[in-house]
Amino acid sequence: MRLNIFGFGSGAKDAGALDADATGFLDPQPAQKATAKAPKTGARKGSKAPLATGKSRTLSRKSQTPPPNTESLKKRVKWLLAHLEEFRQRLQPAMDTGNTDEFVLVMQNYLAFIAAYSDTVAYDAFELGPAYPEYLKFFHRASLEFAWRMEEKAFAEIAEAELQPWQRMKEVVSECISGSYSCMEELPTLVDFSQMRSIVVLGCGKVPASLFFLQDQTNVPAIVGIDNLQEAVDCASALATKFKLDRVRVINADATKLDYSFFDAIYFGPFATPRADVLKQIRSTARPNATIILREPQFTGSLAFERVLPFMQPAFNLIKAGDAKKYLGRFMLRHYVLKPR
Ligand SMILES: C[S@@+](CC[C@H](N)C(=O)[O-])C[C@H]1O[C@@H](n2cnc3c(N)ncnc32)[C@H](O)[C@@H]1O
Repeated sequence: MRLNIFGFGSGAKDAGALDADATGFLDPQPAQKATAKAPKTGARKGSKAPLATGKSRTLSRKSQTPPPNTESLKKRVKWLLAHLEEFRQRLQPAMDTGNTDEFVLVMQNYLAFIAAYSDTVAYDAFELGPAYPEYLKFFHRASLEFAWRMEEKAFAEIAEAELQPWQRMKEVVSECISGSYSCMEELPTLVDFSQMRSIVVLGCGKVPASLFFLQDQTNVPAIVGIDNLQEAVDCASALATKFKLDRVRVINADATKLDYSFFDAIYFGPFATPRADVLKQIRSTARPNATIILREPQFTGSLAFERVLPFMQPAFNLIKAGDAKKYLGRFMLRHYVLKPR
């Protein structure tokens, strides 16, 4: 299947354009399991949507009542902004003071909120509005920080674990990052790895679930993870050695400068930034027949990650899109398979 991505708009609906139901991604995902309810357009006036569970504090009562979709767009965007601002105001001091417990708790609630929020029209208006860049900057930094803290926890747990010869990495992947591993599970349905000799994973991090998955589920002989942070490279290499992931190598390299001509496939996750620069570098150095597997923010995922898909034309063709419902994970990301033109 060859899809022309030129028709994609720049707004929040573009990633969902391949599906008839642009809001059909509200199936249970790791983030949604946190049980936070988000505003549903059309919700009964006065109904409550709790934003936090368990021991966590909730957002203020005033902001828990979502405006129904009969309300004006202006009011619905204002409501969304008020929620985002409230998250920001709770996250900022926790980040500044290094209060990890509070930070993680609020981030979990924020991620549950963005995974369940469903007002596509209000979100589009927000994304095209003047406040969006500032929130993108903030939630990008917070999401990176959150992912890093989850990885630290996961590293400690996985470093303790033992992998028996008959076990797959999935069985020792820590709960903190098992979502990253599971989100890869659709890849064999999107890409034929059987003839590939090499794949590179950009920004693999200190606990490279993507590399674990590729070692487990494919026979690609050379699986290379790159990260531009030495600590991440050291930790990921240590795990690869510990678990005898004999086809995996991790190297220190910058995704915006790497020569991609060495690889049959490129796994471009959301964390390798600046994303537009990474894309340009792939375009200038990848082989003409290379396969690019992109993880792209969908809908509210664009609060944390810069979209690149709408700006790819005319450099790439979109070959396939991943499941719009099952593999979004807590960060609201979706897989796309691309080929250079
Ligand atoms: C949160 S972590 C790991 C991601 C995670 N394991 C996943 O599922 O994709 C993101 C990593 O990307 C790395 N990174 C960000 N920009 C990069 C770039 N331009 N080149 C290489 N690594 C980069 C960071 O150093 C960080 O370790």
